[in-house]
Amino acid sequence: MESTVVVASNRGPVSFELDERGELTSQRGSGGLVTALSGVFFRDDAVWVAAAMTDGDREVALEGRGMSPDSSQRVRFVTLPPEQYDGYYNRFANQILWFVHHHLWDIARTPSFDDQTEQVWQAYMDANRAFATALAGEADGDPVYLIQDYHLSLVPRMLRELRPDARIVHFTHTPFADRTYLRILPVHMREAILRGMAGADVIGFQAKPWVENFLLSVRGMEGFRVLRGGRLAVGGRVAEARSFPVAVNAHPLRETAATTEAREAQHELKAWRGDASLLLRVDRLEPSKNILRGFLAYELFLRRRPDWRGRVRFLALLNPSREALDEYRSYGEDCLAEASRINAELGSDDWVPIAVRVQEDYGFAVAAYGLYDALIVNPVYDGMNLVAMEGPLVNRRHGVLILSRNAGAWSRLGRHAIGVNPFDIRESAEAIEAALEMSEQDRTRRSRGLSRSVQAHTPPTWLAAQLDALDLVRPPSS
Ligand code: F6P
Repeated sequence: MESTVVVASNRGPVSFELDERGELTSQRGSGGLVTALSGVFFRDDAVWVAAAMTDGDREVALEGRGMSPDSSQRVRFVTLPPEQYDGYYNRFANQILWFVHHHLWDIARTPSFDDQTEQVWQAYMDANRAFATALAGEADGDPVYLIQDYHLSLVPRMLRELRPDARIVHFTHTPFADRTYLRILPVHMREAILRGMAGADVIGFQAKPWVENFLLSVRGMEGFRVLRGGRLAVGGRVAEARSFPVAVNAHPLRETAATTEAREAQHELKAWRGDASLLLRVDRLEPSKNILRGFLAYELFLRRRPDWRGRVRFLALLNPSREALDEYRSYGEDCLAEASRINAELGSDDWVPIAVRVQEDYGFAVAAYGLYDALIVNPVYDGMNLVAMEGPLVNRRHGVLILSRNAGAWSRLGRHAIGVNPFDIRESAEAIEAALEMSEQDRTRRSRGLSRSVQAHTPPTWLAAQLDALDLVRPPSS
């Protein structure tokens, strides 16, 4: 008998809003995790446990389970008191864990941990406990638990305490901090996070460097023995840490590209681009995405190569993200200010070097994917990066991918991309130049390679690899 699948993540596949008449409307959850997981968990018996993030979600939570409008997916919301949710999601998961895993702190000044950190850590523990309890309640049919991301790193161990025989996979969508950087965290938090994740049978990451970082951190911790092949002995069990690079589903992406809205957006974009080449970036407005250095690299390229002024347009599509956090707001302001400065210094009456659109419009982004000559994806660190995979699937101009070597996607796509050290403005400027001036033959060869590499993997194979690994470490009970 096939096991039931129970997925847990902070953000669910669907989110509900209350309209002005007090009626519920639903929309697809945003972000890479939902994109990666939707389309995998379409089975009728799958349940997705997520945090209630809106008033609409809380209303649905009161009524029991919600249905995702696009599938028979059942969603169960975990409702947390607002203050606890703020501590868990904004203050601990996003302001501390996100920053540590992406190496984002300016460590001469930040972070400093104090009593307030203890309070948000408490909220994080309480929220993880609420998830573990909800998951333990979804126990019909000897389920496989698929627990997602850094928001829920304590859940595997907490769930195992409640259900010692549970079959658990934990998957991290972000990078995992290297050993010395992780030591910035207060020691009890660091150890609890490592022990929490190791409560799973399979501890999955997007790419090998993140697996290695995790294993280096647990090595030497009391009660752990790192064995060969990514396995670790812990508390009388064996768990396995491995990479399972996520895949994108080409079908819905191409369907989005074919919608009337996307076609109209493409029309508008073509008219705006004219005969110029198009350099594109599509990102959440987020410090790890390295938007500022991307603008500086483009500026350097234009200063070195004035003959390109007026012949290239840079379109930056930036989705607002985590606006409750000061760091995000001020980073966003800095990005916009930098683009304005470059436009004022290098632009002319009929040419604006950088067009920034801060908007949440997936269809528009997919339309732009079709048109770029070069796509820049230069995060300081990134678990995988789905833009790097989505772009080549719908691009129609043999567009070149400029890709950070610190993105998980580098292992899969690097040989067909132009690699950049995201901190090196000169190298990035040269990459822009090389991408825009590449011969048609080389562009064709690389873009075909990118598209082939992306399509060689699918979300179902990504899931199947995790389930196969789980069967080996903890076979299903017969
Ligand atoms: O793994 C990273 C992640 O949590 C993804 O789910 C998503 O792409 C992104 O960060 C957005 O995060 P949030 O849910 O906080 O908007």
